[in-house]
This record gives sequence, C-alpha cells and structure tokens, in this order.
Amino acid sequence: MGTAAQVQEKNVNNSMSEEVLAGLSKSQKTLPSKYFYDKRGSALFEDICELDEYYLTRTELEIMNGNIDAIAAKLGENIQLIELGSGSSVKTRLLLDHLNSINSYIPVDISDDFLAEVAENLQGEYPVLDIIPVAADYTQPFELPRTKPGVRKIAYYPGSTIGNFTKENAAEFLALIADLAGEDGGLLIGFDLLKEKETLVDAYDDSKGVTAEFNKNILLRLNRELNANFDLDLFEHRAVFNEEKSRMEMHLESKADQFVNISDAQIHFEKGETIHTENSHKYSLESFKELTESHFRTVETWTDPESMFAIQFLESK
Ligand code: AVJ
Repeated sequence: MGTAAQVQEKNVNNSMSEEVLAGLSKSQKTLPSKYFYDKRGSALFEDICELDEYYLTRTELEIMNGNIDAIAAKLGENIQLIELGSGSSVKTRLLLDHLNSINSYIPVDISDDFLAEVAENLQGEYPVLDIIPVAADYTQPFELPRTKPGVRKIAYYPGSTIGNFTKENAAEFLALIADLAGEDGGLLIGFDLLKEKETLVDAYDDSKGVTAEFNKNILLRLNRELNANFDLDLFEHRAVFNEEKSRMEMHLESKADQFVNISDAQIHFEKGETIHTENSHKYSLESFKELTESHFRTVETWTDPESMFAIQFLESK
C-alpha cells in the first residue's frame, strides 16, 4: 500500500514571517529554533553530530546499539512506529532491523521534500514494509493513517529534540503524543542528562566553530527567505548554561547598535542585545519523570556508563 513517494500533508502552516517578526518584537528577542533546519542548517547539524564536544549523538547511538534487543522486546509486536522528525538515520534502521513484527513505519516531518526522499530511500531498503510519510507539524494535532485494530502505536522521538521545548511546551507536546499513541501505545524517547556546566558549554560552543555557523545560519535564511539584511559579521554566537532553568541556551549577540530590515519591518538592535535562538533542556531522571508522569508510565530507562544521555520507553496511561 504505502507508496513512499506520496507524502500526506497535514496542518503545515506558512506563517514564517509572522512568527519571526513576533519573536523579534519581544523585549528578549527570540527566533523559533525549527528555522535552523534549511538545507545548509541540516548539513551543519550533521557536522555538529560528528564533533568531539557534541557527545549527544554518539552516546545515544551507543545506548541503542548496546540495548537494541531489550528495546525491541519492550516495544512489543505488531507495532506502528511513528518517528517524529525526519528519520532515515542509523538509529531508525537499527530499530527497523530489530523490531519483532512491524506493521508500518510513519516518518512525520514538517519539510515534505526531505521526507519524500527519506521514505523513498527506506522503501528501497525495506521493500515489504508499509512506509507512509506524513508531512505535519507534529507539535500540533495531526491525523495518522488508519490501522487495523490491535496495532500498537509507538512514537519514536530520538535525539534529545524534546529538550528544545520549554517545560510547559514539552508537557503539552507529551499530552498530544499520549493522545496520538492512544491506549496501549507508547513512546521511545532520547533525552540529554544534566551534567557539569563545562561539558555542556563545550558541546554548544565547539572549538571548530561549527555550532556558531549553525546558529548564524538562521540569519542567512531570513536574508534569503524574508528579504532581510542581517550582516553576519555584526552578530556573535553565544552558548550559555541557564542553571535555574537547567538548559543550554544559544543566542546571537549584536556587536553594534544597528537596524535590520525584515520583510516590511525594521528591527532595532542595541549593542550587546541578543536574539535567543534555542533552548536545550537537560533533565535528571527525576525531573524527566515529573515531566512525563501525568500521561506516561516509565517502563524502562537505558543509559551509558557515564550517564551522559538516556533513552526511555514509556507507556500511555
Ligand atoms: C537537535 C535539538 C537536539 O539541542 O542539542 C546542536 C540542536 N543545537 N547544537 C540540541 C543543536 C546546537 C540539538 N537538537
């Protein structure tokens, strides 16, 4: 059934300029971190994943590799695997290769070009698997393709992407996922653990400057897509640990008093003022339990020997 090329489009909205201008009109200017991931941004993120300082990706993969049979056993049988965010990674293949009996694989992503490509490639490698890509903003309610009764829906949310949400938004998101997975459904999720500040800051301010490029790339995107005129030399990458909120923050600091045009608007920046571009929340097992327990029961936690990162399987309550 699932011809991979046909992407189902759900609820994708087009209000980039509204969102950007709203964020830049606040007293603490912000930009939504989802806009990092254009073509160049996605490539830069892949480069980040290879950096020595960015321990997250390799640690999560190490945990997956070391525990894949146990993970597959917990997920159970006759499952529909719903991956939130573009799949195709090594981790996705590892799951597809080890799951006991898989009914279908549903990659969900906001960017439909990439999604179609990913689904087509995977379909080539897994010819009998029903792959149904869905283009949707998964932070908003969206519909899943219909399944036969008895299929167990498992959402897969790797990569510590949950860390990008504020605590309040993460709670709302988890409610939505619990609803999507439904009774008997579950969530396999990867999240980053709280650790000493130096390690965290180094992971978001690497010595090669790749993260700085990634952060500034959002301005290039606004220049191109919203007809803005940011001078990239007049903004500097900042990575700071916000201890009170237990999160890494990325900012772009204006090096001068300046005006920038975006669409039809003009935005003023004071020297030293920042645009807050990303949050990456760091959890303890306790704080993560507090976050999830109203909708999920924690079934199992897997971690690495140094407790840098965690993968959990949770079941809907
Ligand atoms: C892909 C959102 C998990 O927050 O660590 C990497 C993105 N930002 N370096 C993260 C990111 C800066 C990453 N996530």
